[in-house]
Amino acid sequence: MGTMAYGNAMGHLPFREAIAEYLGASRGVRCESSQILVTTGSQQALQISAQVLLDPQDRIGMEEPGYPDARQIFMAAGAKVIPVRVDQDGMNVAEIISQDRDARAVYITPSHQYPLGTTMSASRRMLLLNWAVRSGAWIIEDDYDSEYRFGSHPIASLQGLDTDGRVIYVGTLSKVMFPALRLGYMVVPKDLVPAFSAARHAADIFSSTLYQAAMTDFIREGHFARHIRKMRILYSDRRKALVDAIQTQMGDRLEVIGAEAAQKAISVMPLSICYSKPPAKSGLILGYGGTNSQQIHDGIRKLRMCVQSAR
Ligand SMILES: Cc1ncc(COP(=O)(O)O)c(C=O)c1O
Repeated sequence: MGTMAYGNAMGHLPFREAIAEYLGASRGVRCESSQILVTTGSQQALQISAQVLLDPQDRIGMEEPGYPDARQIFMAAGAKVIPVRVDQDGMNVAEIISQDRDARAVYITPSHQYPLGTTMSASRRMLLLNWAVRSGAWIIEDDYDSEYRFGSHPIASLQGLDTDGRVIYVGTLSKVMFPALRLGYMVVPKDLVPAFSAARHAADIFSSTLYQAAMTDFIREGHFARHIRKMRILYSDRRKALVDAIQTQMGDRLEVIGAEAAQKAISVMPLSICYSKPPAKSGLILGYGGTNSQQIHDGIRKLRMCVQSAR
């Protein structure tokens, strides 16, 4: 009966406990289960964050290029999105500190920058946190795919370094499991829990308890950890197949950077959709997670033909 009645706006408690443990052990996130808010994917987590933290005309810094779905949410909330350049060390934090001291928040993907795939350096993390403490700004950390790192070692979350409750940590099961689950979660600073809980209730009351209960069993029975281990190998093989196919078939024409990206059937998106200004780089974002090596090979052949005919 418990799972069939109305649930708590923050989510199903056994699931929140399992997620809090998992984040502590695997992402260095420091939290209690009472801070976990279960959402319908990260998209809703960002929407609730915008609603609670931002007023119209507030300025929010965002990586350029960055995640267009996040930009859309902040713009819809009436905020002014400030593009902040990204290089091999992640977001150029000094830029926002010098030019936008009064920014209300920053949205950032420090573990694996979307879409360029870089990891934010330790010194920039500290710079960003110190700025947030000094200026009373919020940091929205989107840690959407950190379970799958292939080219480099996983790095702990920014949230784990935060001692002042400035970071709102956002995670999702869309990558580590699959997007149709529509389950995400956020770690909310303790003093903000009542405001976030009220916003979640006002949005759609709570996420389906059945999926949360099923995921709790999946985690508690050890399937989740096994699944991650298995998928790391599978995705690593697919990534290698993709990089090999690009280098063999189009090596003289394309450069592969941060090749740890999206996880669905092979798809091509122009990099330009991630820019708010004229793009500084031109490129294609390739998704390959749901595609086997043969399909990847065939897909790249098709891509090569498209590039050839476009010339
Ligand atoms: C940067 C980033 N955040 C979050 C997500 C996942 O969003 P959701 O949890 O709403 O499925 C994606 C999906 O591609 C993404 O690229």
